[in-house]
Amino acid sequence: MIRVSDLHKRFGDIHAVNGISFEVKRGETYGLLGPNGAGKTTTMRMLSALSPLTSGDIEVGGINVTERGREVREILGVVTQHDGHDSGLTVLQNLALHGYLQGLSRSRAEERAVEVLTFFGLEDRKSANVYELSGGMKRRLAISRALLTQPPVVVLDEPTTGLDPQSRNRVWEQLAVMKRAGVTVLMSTHYMEEAATLCDRLSIMDHGKILDEGAPDELVERHAGEEVAQVRTRSEEALAALRERLAGTTFNLHEVGAMATITSDNGKRPEISGIDGIRVNYRSGNLEDVFITLTGRDLRDE
Ligand SMILES: Nc1ncnc2c1ncn2[C@@H]1O[C@H](COP(=O)(O)OP(=O)(O)OP(=O)(O)O)[C@@H](O)[C@H]1O
Ligand SMILES: [Mg+2]
Repeated sequence: MIRVSDLHKRFGDIHAVNGISFEVKRGETYGLLGPNGAGKTTTMRMLSALSPLTSGDIEVGGINVTERGREVREILGVVTQHDGHDSGLTVLQNLALHGYLQGLSRSRAEERAVEVLTFFGLEDRKSANVYELSGGMKRRLAISRALLTQPPVVVLDEPTTGLDPQSRNRVWEQLAVMKRAGVTVLMSTHYMEEAATLCDRLSIMDHGKILDEGAPDELVERHAGEEVAQVRTRSEEALAALRERLAGTTFNLHEVGAMATITSDNGKRPEISGIDGIRVNYRSGNLEDVFITLTGRDLRDE
């Protein structure tokens, strides 16, 4: 449903998207996972025909974005990173107006508005003014709006950033329902848990490039190992001994504050014993470890 080949975007000297390629199959949920400035929004804006490509090609549903942007927008539901809601309207009016502007008849637009509000648990707020909604409700309204015309492809830029855990879970549940209905989803996030929960496959992005791509479990297996060792110590001698022990091995050591994390790039459990002052805990590897292994940085580093 989505095919991106050798995509580039430059803003003056900034190479915001630097030669990325990926494909998303029908019904698949595909994630772009990366830190601030990785190029996620820029990629999604080009894909949604909201921003021109510097070079490369994008097709959505077999339609070329550069040549037929308007047709691409007709089959896409887009949730942008920052919601722009029309103030002064009630929640229901806002949705009905958007449905109408997107080509539904007036009565169909109202019918769909009620349906999506119910789906997103906002029906009891339908008469509230949009500016009276909480941040999480506004986010749910933005997603509702993108689904009014039942588009086959939905693009979601950080659908849950800023939401509390309960609202985030609700959005996750609703995305799962959409997925079961066969909707193809491209989403960005910098929450690794979100990527692991929702995405069939994902790309790890940094500095405009895709560092690796795969199913969440595959990426964890490839770059972090099933089990990751963690050591919490403030002892410099212990850390020095640990560094020495791991030098030249297939294990990677990452130190953040008092926490040292040891990942493996061959799937083997890092065995560390006999260093004074160190107690090793094991936990499952996750996408954060993958990111750190690939970039040497934390997902939340600026
Ligand atoms: N309109 C613009 N003009 C100039 N530079 C831009 C513009 N839009 C984005 N950039 C730059 O392109 C790079 C990628 O930005 P982008 O918004 O795509 O990142 P992102 O991965 O979405 O980050 P975030 O997680 O913060 O939303 C950044 O260096 C950013 O400053
Ligand atoms: Mg962004």
